[in-house]
Amino acid sequence: MQADGSIATSLGDYSVNLGTFSAAAMDRAGHLATGLPLASFAGKSALAREVDVLVHRLARHGLVEYRLSSPRDEQDLVVIEPQVAGYWPQCAKLGNGDTVVLSRFAYLRRRGNEMVLESPRAGALFRIGDPAIAATLAALSRPQKISKLRRHAASFNLDLLALLLDSQILLKLDAKSGEGLRLNEGDGNLVLWDFHDFLFHTRSTEGRHANPLGGTFAYADAVPPLPAVRPPWPGKKIDLRKFSTSEPISPFAKLLRERHSIRDFDDEHPITLAELAQFLDATARVLSEWSGANFDGGPEVTYSTRPYPAAGSAYELELYLAVSNCEGLARGLYHYDAGGHALVAIGASAQQLHALSTAAEFAMDAPGPPQVLITIAARFGRISWKYSSIAYSLILKDVGTLIQTFYLATTDMGLGGCAIGTINIDLFAKMTELEFHVESPVGQFALGRGKKPLAAS
Ligand SMILES: Cc1cc2nc3c(=O)[nH]c(=O)nc-3n(C[C@H](O)[C@H](O)[C@H](O)COP(=O)(O)O)c2cc1C
Repeated sequence: MQADGSIATSLGDYSVNLGTFSAAAMDRAGHLATGLPLASFAGKSALAREVDVLVHRLARHGLVEYRLSSPRDEQDLVVIEPQVAGYWPQCAKLGNGDTVVLSRFAYLRRRGNEMVLESPRAGALFRIGDPAIAATLAALSRPQKISKLRRHAASFNLDLLALLLDSQILLKLDAKSGEGLRLNEGDGNLVLWDFHDFLFHTRSTEGRHANPLGGTFAYADAVPPLPAVRPPWPGKKIDLRKFSTSEPISPFAKLLRERHSIRDFDDEHPITLAELAQFLDATARVLSEWSGANFDGGPEVTYSTRPYPAAGSAYELELYLAVSNCEGLARGLYHYDAGGHALVAIGASAQQLHALSTAAEFAMDAPGPPQVLITIAARFGRISWKYSSIAYSLILKDVGTLIQTFYLATTDMGLGGCAIGTINIDLFAKMTELEFHVESPVGQFALGRGKKPLAAS
């Protein structure tokens, strides 16, 4: 609490100013360290409203945990840890006549010396405080009627079940959907996801979890770094150096040698629309289309041919261009229609575009935003319709082939570019209104005209 009446919160070297509040609100806020009942600031009084604003601001930064305690002995039943920005606990409607079942994406695991219940669909994780809850969860692997569960479960708490339902860790079954709902969980696009693939997507990107991410050097104190080059095997050595020349022997070998990442762009001479069109034509344009059945009696599937290789010829990758500085093209977000070789504008807000390119600038430790930031999104169903267990890994391999194609094209055209390893899938979902389990980012590439290195003096 600052002398000027404002409240700031700090966590390590991260601090947020939360605004100015009355002395009474500051006093009430002091209780947040140990716990403040939601009901205590749910009313209409000026004080309640002030505290509500403060707690919502904290929640937007993911700085609030929510405790559900036993009405009998005040022991923690669960503690809810938000995983997405702005999570707020809600009790979904649930009554005695309802039947619920665990989502097939929910999982219980040990974290440190705690048990946590998580799901890639959920906006929060649930720290389990009472082992009896784990037993109830196990029972929920089969559909259970609330009235029956109430009679038989060792620990029954309707609020907890309603919170889990709101987080899509539990599903409500209706008489009509029956088993069908268990497969698609009320959303046909979820049928196409294997459990591990969905978890991998949400945990290896930003936006849907609150764990440390990126170059954190988490094990630097525990283990020495591995060497850059693997020590050779002790076996008989066949020296290849006598077959190689020091200079590349073909234009392609020269292109490979010249390729390097460029993170600093010349904003006085930005990439032009004609260059962007040529780049997309060379790397990603649909060259031809064809169709055929994969197996006897199978449906007709349409296919395309493009300049880079792709697993199963699925070509599930889509390009979204956040344009900050391109001569002849207005700032904004565009989808590349690879079939029509055209850019189609998407109405994203200036604030969202700024957040997307600032994150890229930060990831590259660059002095400014990329002129064009290409977000590579995957239409998951295009590949998981065919492949089990390996679908997501194939998608990431396809991203690798496309990124190398981008690198070589930028080098060939005298442009600059850099791959980016992090991406916020929640931000992209908000910008495009595409759900993160339908079409979502799996890679990024910064593109532009590289700044010429200063001539040596
Ligand atoms: C999958 C992938 C992710 C990368 N992510 C980043 C990144 O987030 N930030 C960055 O500055 N460079 C990133 N890079 C670029 C690498 O740092 C770069 O390729 C590497 O240091 C070798 O340098 P060179 O590309 O100039 O040869 C990435 C490269 C790849 C292939």
